[in-house]
Amino acid sequence: MEFKFDVSDIFPSSIVEVNPSLIPPGFAGDRRGLSNVVAKVAEVVNAMGDASAAAQGLSNPITSAERLRKADQTVYLLVDRDAKGGKGVVTGMLKTGKKSLYVFDRDGQHHHVSPPCVLDFYVHESRQRTGLGKQLFEHMLKKENVEPIKLAIDRPSDKLLSFMDKHYGLQTPMRQMNNYVVFDGFFPELQSDV
Ligand code: ACO
Repeated sequence: MEFKFDVSDIFPSSIVEVNPSLIPPGFAGDRRGLSNVVAKVAEVVNAMGDASAAAQGLSNPITSAERLRKADQTVYLLVDRDAKGGKGVVTGMLKTGKKSLYVFDRDGQHHHVSPPCVLDFYVHESRQRTGLGKQLFEHMLKKENVEPIKLAIDRPSDKLLSFMDKHYGLQTPMRQMNNYVVFDGFFPELQSDV
């Protein structure tokens, strides 16, 4: 996705983490520069949130700068800094955060847990199925030091379920009443007495 400003100027690497401050990593400037860069990051987050909602057929975006400011969540942005003659484009977005959830295992036992959750995930239509989603997801797993099986996913689309199967061998999702999905292995193994 293109913006009227140079995204390569505000984002210093091909994957950047945006937290509720909306200050991009490595920012060094004065107060005026700060409000200018924060406005640009907000514009990028809003545009990617809108595009993700459109791709999922949702009327309201899950991700916006305003929502991010109020929540303890992280937005990872995938940036192609060389595109458009060095102006750069933003090609993907992944939002994660911890949520307090009640989830049921296959035996119907409920568990109160606060797992890291995949809340929103989008790769630009022109770049889907080229491995960018995997690249972004792998970065997040490393950064958050989490295994895919320990994640809860909020309302996964069929594409995301297929993605989890293809790259991580996660099949037979357990759909929860709160619309989250977890996989076998999410729950800790019960200790045997033997
Ligand atoms: N149809 C079915 N499966 C798909 C599709 C598709 N159109 N696109 C990606 N996938 C799955 C497949 O398993 C595919 O493997 P295959 O091509 O061998 O069938 C695999 O993802 C490809 O992996 P990547 O190239 O690494 O993934 P990609 O860059 O396409 O990113 C993503 C995956 C984010 C799901 C992307 O397809 C997308 O943005 N889709 C539209 C929005 C969406 O559904 N987002 C998830 C919403 S749910 C949530 O965010 C919690």
